[in-house]
Amino acid sequence: MIYCYSRSRKSYGSYQQRIFHAGQREFSTTRIMANPNTVLGANPQPQQYETDLRWEMVDEYSFSHLHPAGSTHPSNEVLTYALDNSKKEGLPNIAVSPSQGKYLMLQARMIRAERILEVGTLGGYSTIWLASAWKGVRVTTVEINPHHQSVAQTNLAQAGVSNKVESLLGPGVEVLTKLAGEVKAGKRKKYDMVFIDADKINNWNYVNLALDMTRPGACIIVDNVVRRGLLADAEAAKTNPNVEGSRRVVENVGKDPRIDGVVIQLVGGKNYDGFLVATVNNDE
Ligand SMILES: C[S@@+](CC[C@H](N)C(=O)[O-])C[C@H]1O[C@@H](n2cnc3c(N)ncnc32)[C@H](O)[C@@H]1O
Repeated sequence: MIYCYSRSRKSYGSYQQRIFHAGQREFSTTRIMANPNTVLGANPQPQQYETDLRWEMVDEYSFSHLHPAGSTHPSNEVLTYALDNSKKEGLPNIAVSPSQGKYLMLQARMIRAERILEVGTLGGYSTIWLASAWKGVRVTTVEINPHHQSVAQTNLAQAGVSNKVESLLGPGVEVLTKLAGEVKAGKRKKYDMVFIDADKINNWNYVNLALDMTRPGACIIVDNVVRRGLLADAEAAKTNPNVEGSRRVVENVGKDPRIDGVVIQLVGGKNYDGFLVATVNNDE
């Protein structure tokens, strides 16, 4: 059952007690919310968010313990600044969640990524996470909207990571085609990790281009493919280009011998969605 309710941050504690100490009924507080932000890229439809108090609470609880104030990098201050400044500058609230951002950073650290390519900068929130993975990492981030790029540059400077980030302006397919050419010509080294989070209709084009400029064993992550479960809905794909873009990338990765992937469904403070996580196959 879907319950609709409003909840202020102050009432969080009492909800927490009710959720964990009251009856079973409290465990199904899923709600559908209209996201006032227009989806960027090919789909001009307003988006709906589905969320659930338990998902928000687990995100808030776990993140507060695993990324505590004062002892973490990037600091909560620079992360909050990036989100607040993005909001002040009128950017849509569509950055990855704090836990997802931290996962990206840890994934980069796990493979000791030296070069990361990101498509879709927005205000640089995920870029800050990626650029904070370790001292040797460098990030190339691509954004089509000059205002978003400009806000991101302010946020990256505030986070102290500008010197680790190359910010490129332009349509992702054009920019990645140019980057792939530079890699092929030996003017640019191959990437170790790619994070794709821009116009969903081009998801497969971005993966396909990324395969021309990544090393074997590189990690490629495509955000927002689950789309509240619409990924499994072939009918929805006929009218929703974002769903079509998500299905195409999943199906093509499945068929392509150059890459191996899996979809990880995610819930959290921001939505029911998920990543496609893939790796570029080794030669042997
Ligand atoms: C979901 S937001 C990125 C969020 C960011 N990765 C984060 O988590 O902080 C998508 C971004 O992709 C950009 N974008 C949309 N279409 C694009 C395209 N064709 N090429 C490059 N960027 C694009 C949008 O302007 C927007 O800033």
